[in-house]
Amino acid sequence: MNFLSRRTIREYTEEVISEEKIQEILKVALFSPSSRNKRGIEFIVVKDKKIAEKLSGYKKKVQNMPLEANFLVVVIADKTLSDTWIENSSVALTLMQLKAWDLGIGSCWMQVRGRVDNNNIDSEEIIKKILEIPEKYGVLALMTFGYPKEKKEGYEFFQIDNDRIHYEKY
Ligand SMILES: Cc1cc2nc3c(=O)[nH]c(=O)nc-3n(C[C@H](O)[C@H](O)[C@H](O)COP(=O)(O)O)c2cc1C
Repeated sequence: MNFLSRRTIREYTEEVISEEKIQEILKVALFSPSSRNKRGIEFIVVKDKKIAEKLSGYKKKVQNMPLEANFLVVVIADKTLSDTWIENSSVALTLMQLKAWDLGIGSCWMQVRGRVDNNNIDSEEIIKKILEIPEKYGVLALMTFGYPKEKKEGYEFFQIDNDRIHYEKY
């Protein structure tokens, strides 16, 4: 797998992603590492366009991806189970993005936690209400998936500020 070519993809074709590929992506997420192996991360897969439409206005800068995506996954975590639910969710999201890329599928992390919609209503609360998610869960982000319509080049090593890497001490 070429991790270095990975980019965020926000424009998708209408080509349907097979259920088999969706399961491959979810399996990687289910197997992702978590603090004290508590897991506790759960996933809501949304393919239904009517639900995607309801979700699409969940944050201020409304973006088209939930509507254009072939499917999306809302990552939720039981906050009472682990104090690292944000980190655990982040790992699962990252691995899903990489696995999708490996399968030729583009994706976009869409932040939920800490965001509000145009009426200043908390984005987490909006999503929890629409998807009937119990109170004790936190919603870090959702991820949209689809075959890439846009072509983006991977980064070249020289484009990245290499001075962020320190050796032995700062
Ligand atoms: C924590 C986090 C939150 C993000 N939230 C959003 C978002 O709400 N909307 C969006 O379009 N992209 C979002 N992104 C994607 C970033 O904008 C993207 O990773 C960044 O611009 C670098 O582009 P690349 O992934 O192609 O390297 C998010 C990424 C991360 C890691």
